[in-house]
Amino acid sequence: MAMSVVPMHPVIGAEIKGVDLTKPVDQETQAKIRKAFEDHVVVVFRGQDLADGDQVRAGEIFGKVVLRERPPVGDLSTQGGNWDTPFMYVTNIVENGKSLGSFGDGEMWFHHDTSYYEEPHRATLLYSQKLTSWGGETCFANQYAAYDNIPRKLRDKLEGRKVLQMHDYKRRERLNLDVVDLAKVRHHVQPIFITHPATGRKSLYVSRLMTARIEGMPMAESEEILAQLFDISEDPSIVYEHKWKIGDLVCWDNWCSIHMRKDFPREEPRLMRRCTIVGQTMHF
Ligand SMILES: [Fe+2]
Repeated sequence: MAMSVVPMHPVIGAEIKGVDLTKPVDQETQAKIRKAFEDHVVVVFRGQDLADGDQVRAGEIFGKVVLRERPPVGDLSTQGGNWDTPFMYVTNIVENGKSLGSFGDGEMWFHHDTSYYEEPHRATLLYSQKLTSWGGETCFANQYAAYDNIPRKLRDKLEGRKVLQMHDYKRRERLNLDVVDLAKVRHHVQPIFITHPATGRKSLYVSRLMTARIEGMPMAESEEILAQLFDISEDPSIVYEHKWKIGDLVCWDNWCSIHMRKDFPREEPRLMRRCTIVGQTMHF
């Protein structure tokens, strides 16, 4: 069966059909998958029965699969599972009092993965293995479109500015700069708008969960502008909501999209296997 690309939303998300990721994918098909990924920002393969190695091979279509990094010393409270493997398990499953993975429960606000690294990951591949009876949807927002939707005057005012991105693994909401000790959380200053290294398109690079302030601006003004940008970044017209089925592999471009997770029942097991693709420095 030949590969086909079926858009799921006007500006973000497409399903790729006719590809069995349990087998090596030929070069021509790989190029088509990368093209669909650039065009649609999020691509979904449904009904895949993937062993660990199959997911890594699928990841290599998009770039080099990275090994999972340890969080800073003393920041292990919600982090479990193995290190030095490509996989992180996004799960609420606890065995013998120890979490099998990370980011187990509940809603998670919109964010880029690893925007607080010097070289944010290029892409994330999330594979569903156990799902709850309701909830747990992942929503993706197209940040090229968000950039285009910023009022001209505001865009001009912010051009060349930088933002502080940070994240504490223990928290699922925005950190308060008045109380947080920056030495203890991962953080990095990034351009507020980036030029996507692969497509050359401009993308808004802030998120409600991880962007703490606009550098070099009074805090009150920074807060007011960020509130406006967060709303633009999450505008429902640029959001695709993925309703998971077992065997979905969802791959998203982590430079030009943000994502959030909806709530789900804590008492039911949920298990997602995640790997990421090596990134690079973000530039204006
Ligand atoms: Fe994430």
